[in-house]
Amino acid sequence: MRSVFAAAGFAALTALAAPSALAQYDDYDGLPPGENRDLVFAYCGACHSNRIVAQQGLSRERWDDLLVWMVDEQGMYPIDEPDRTQVLDYLSTYLSEDR
Ligand code: HEC
Repeated sequence: MRSVFAAAGFAALTALAAPSALAQYDDYDGLPPGENRDLVFAYCGACHSNRIVAQQGLSRERWDDLLVWMVDEQGMYPIDEPDRTQVLDYLSTYLSEDR
């Protein structure tokens, strides 16, 4: 007798093996894909979830102000160049005020 359970088991295994785009996206706490995302993920996830970064939408100038505030008031180490500019590039491109 051909088992219906065997067939169901196979389907479940295939589902597990399928790559999940959602899981990959989640690995970055909701930061959208884009150039320099790894850098932002590393610098900005040290103290808090990157989710609070991903939720923001600001102009380049306001992101710049926020980085200053993060250093002056929240204890973040100043980010050296060229990294700082690249972090700012990512933030103002992929998390801009009018996205
Ligand atoms: C040294 C620890 C530290 C690092 C590193 C850090 N932050 Fe923060 N950040 C904080 C703290 C603490 C708060 C909470 C401030 C508050 O709400 O009073 C915060 C809050 C925020 C908020 C929420 C601001 C709001 O309006 O409530 C944003 C956005 C943010 N950080 C962005 C960033 C970005 C972007 C980076 C990377 C460049 C970063 N943070 C790196 C400590 C850090």
